[in-house]
Amino acid sequence: MTYHVTLIPGDGIGPEITAETVKVLEATGLSFVWDEQLAGVAAVDATGTPLPDATIESIRHRKVALKGPLTTPVGAGFRSVNVQLRKEFELFANIRPARTLVPGGRFENVDIVLVRENLEGLYVGVEHFIAIGGDPRAVGESLAIVTRAGCERIIRYAFEYALRQGRKKVTIVHKANILKMVSGLFLEVGRRIAKEYEGRIEAGDMIVDNCAMQLVLRPEQFDVMVTTNMFGDILSDEVSGLVGGLGLAPGANIGTHASIFEAVHGSAPDIARQGIANPSAQILAAAMMLDHLGETASANRIRAAVEQVIVEDKVRTRDLGGSATTREFGDAVARRVGA
Ligand code: NAI
Ligand code: MG
Repeated sequence: MTYHVTLIPGDGIGPEITAETVKVLEATGLSFVWDEQLAGVAAVDATGTPLPDATIESIRHRKVALKGPLTTPVGAGFRSVNVQLRKEFELFANIRPARTLVPGGRFENVDIVLVRENLEGLYVGVEHFIAIGGDPRAVGESLAIVTRAGCERIIRYAFEYALRQGRKKVTIVHKANILKMVSGLFLEVGRRIAKEYEGRIEAGDMIVDNCAMQLVLRPEQFDVMVTTNMFGDILSDEVSGLVGGLGLAPGANIGTHASIFEAVHGSAPDIARQGIANPSAQILAAAMMLDHLGETASANRIRAAVEQVIVEDKVRTRDLGGSATTREFGDAVARRVGA
């Protein structure tokens, strides 16, 4: 099997961490054809637009993209590339796993996957000001839009993901006690779908504010979590914080027309071209891509190798207190994966 993948190295540290990620992927022995495309500032410099049609066409055909971080071009007239991609490919699910890798942190055994609905809710951007008297902005009003179909799609994805990944439990996070319709609908659909998986996946639900507290008190109780857009935005960063921040955090954007895999962090212009960036998050995003392609064994090998290199080999980049270069780290992981 040969996989055709759109490869967007991106800006800042993007090309450095992407090169190591490709090296690690190829060390699995799987066969890839990389269709390299531009986006972000690199694309503006070359073509005048941050998201060229050629890049969109490539993703449309390959259906899978591995993307480096993009620097948001400063200046008027540039729409966010990430928002454009989300709309173009209906990237309805954002998946953020967080697992304790480096021992000695605040929590020893966090292993959570947060599944966030990414197209609906309060972030649909339907909002306006209402003028009262002389004040044109006396009231701000925004509409949260949640559809039954959207709830079904994301919740079913979470349960199927849990099954595929051998997970035990899904927690549905909501605020149905106050938001009886937009959040009530999510909970109603969630409880119904949970019944279908009875005996295979344990299910529970939790109100979002309690959930925020439970996460910092007893994060071990969570496995897969599924929630609506804004709650997911907030909780996914909280979950990353439990395991030491964004440095090791990968993300997947799953869509109906394509799926895009990337690190959670940005282009880190402050350390670009110095060869010291940590490629772990991008490598772990590539492992999620392999999960998506059904190559679970290779994905697990990559995750184990990253962990062994950091914990046992003690090869660490500067952000983790070591002195390894980006390439030394990538070589060490590729060696473990190929062994
Ligand atoms: P950032 O995540 O790029 O950097 C924050 C801090 O973390 C910096 O000190 C950086 O050196 C460090 N850091 C980040 N990734 C690292 C890595 N792999 N290894 C070692 N250190 C790392 O966030 P910032 O500075 O807010 O954003 C920079 C640019 O990235 C902006 O233009 C922003 O819009 C863009 N961005 C793009 C994203 C994407 O394309 N998915 C996501 C987040 C930000
Ligand atoms: Mg966010």
